[in-house]
Amino acid sequence: MARIVIVSNRVPIPKARVTAAGGLAVALRDLLVPGSMWFGWSGRLSDEPSLQPALVEARGVTYATIDLTREAHRAFYVGFANGALWPLLHFRLGLMHFRREDYAGYLEVNATFAAALGNVLQPDDTVWAHDYHLLPLGRLLRKQGFTGPLGFFLHVPFVPPSMLEAMPVARELVADLCSYDVVGFQTEEHAIDFRDCAHRLLGATVEGEYVRLNGRRTRVFADPIGIDARSFAEEAERSVGDKLVQRVFGSLSGRALAIGVDRMDYSKGLPNRFEAYGRLLERYPEHRSQISFLQICPRSREEVDEYRKLRAELDRLTGRINGRFSEFDWTPLRYSTRAAPRATLAGLYRIARVGVVTPLRDGMNLVAKEFIAAQPDEDPGVLVLSKFAGAAQDLGEALIVNPFDPDAIADAIHQALTMPLEERRERQVALKAKVFEATASAYCQRFLDALGTSMPALQAA
Ligand code: F6P
Repeated sequence: MARIVIVSNRVPIPKARVTAAGGLAVALRDLLVPGSMWFGWSGRLSDEPSLQPALVEARGVTYATIDLTREAHRAFYVGFANGALWPLLHFRLGLMHFRREDYAGYLEVNATFAAALGNVLQPDDTVWAHDYHLLPLGRLLRKQGFTGPLGFFLHVPFVPPSMLEAMPVARELVADLCSYDVVGFQTEEHAIDFRDCAHRLLGATVEGEYVRLNGRRTRVFADPIGIDARSFAEEAERSVGDKLVQRVFGSLSGRALAIGVDRMDYSKGLPNRFEAYGRLLERYPEHRSQISFLQICPRSREEVDEYRKLRAELDRLTGRINGRFSEFDWTPLRYSTRAAPRATLAGLYRIARVGVVTPLRDGMNLVAKEFIAAQPDEDPGVLVLSKFAGAAQDLGEALIVNPFDPDAIADAIHQALTMPLEERRERQVALKAKVFEATASAYCQRFLDALGTSMPALQAA
């Protein structure tokens, strides 16, 4: 039977001591049936690259991973993927640091992935690669002779041609993506931008959703990722009783909780958000001592300079806000750089009155969807959402803000805190319907349909 082989940089081996691949394991849960495979980096650095993947089986799924050398990983992950591609794709040209040697390392790691994957791939497998770490993988697999269905999904935003052109190897990267049969983006805008890039940079022909280059045809389409809303809502309801969630609830002493949860990344707009909160307390003094803002932002990519600088800036801003507004019995801003378990987050979203999701750019942002799924119908909280998160395309009943305008964020938090119950309920009904409809299952189903591959459950039937 044809297998589905998922490929990503990080591999979420259940119960293994490797960092989980964020929400990806949840998003792809429907594909993780016995017989399927997940391939990627082991999380280990070694002296020699391992071309023969180590195989671990869990719940019938084979997790195939390889080690990378320290030098190759540095150039691939720190240098090109997160030092050049990530800022570019988040519209931050000023932060893009391109070095030819990093790009060479990026290609080398993709070639290592292709060679090692080739050792475990079967001719009738369907391969689905994920994210900006693996743009050239499809071309390299084709070069090795793989002829099965080959798809790629980009979890982060994509940029228009005028911006992509700043990347010295833009043409190569766009051509690489054209080696896949299907390329998925989070929003229609990103899919359009990619087709424009293929046309403008490479002279590819665009026919509707299809891009034709060198006799090959690639379907380029929007396939917005979703969550398993039902199980997240159940988790939120259950977790309200958790000790930690109860302790947070008790510590609020009746104050409204505003919450933000983001990996510590400059694309998340955290300094602007902190500044906005300061402005709220300054311009709307009635909220002083009446609100507690909890920002959870687990540390991330600390090998990259920009991330270390961001941490120092957030420490400073937190000190400034708390120093200026604190009372002896009230800390306005609670800020933690530790990761919280999913269940705890679900419970915290449920007791929060305001969810603040204000990235400067984001592919989708699943925190926005999880916040909505977690809300109680009878007394729901309000979502403040950046217009530059992919989620804003669908969640128009949230309070949509421009994240570059701290006063606009402050006004929206004020509006959320003073919104009548009836209006909160009306907005929540509309938002919940969308989050429960655009599920993770629907996302997988659309992508496999585009690849001409059946969902695993259908194969088994
Ligand atoms: O948002 C893109 C993404 O690759 C996510 O899929 C993932 O959760 C996150 O970045 C993690 O980044 P890293 O692997 O660099 O820690």
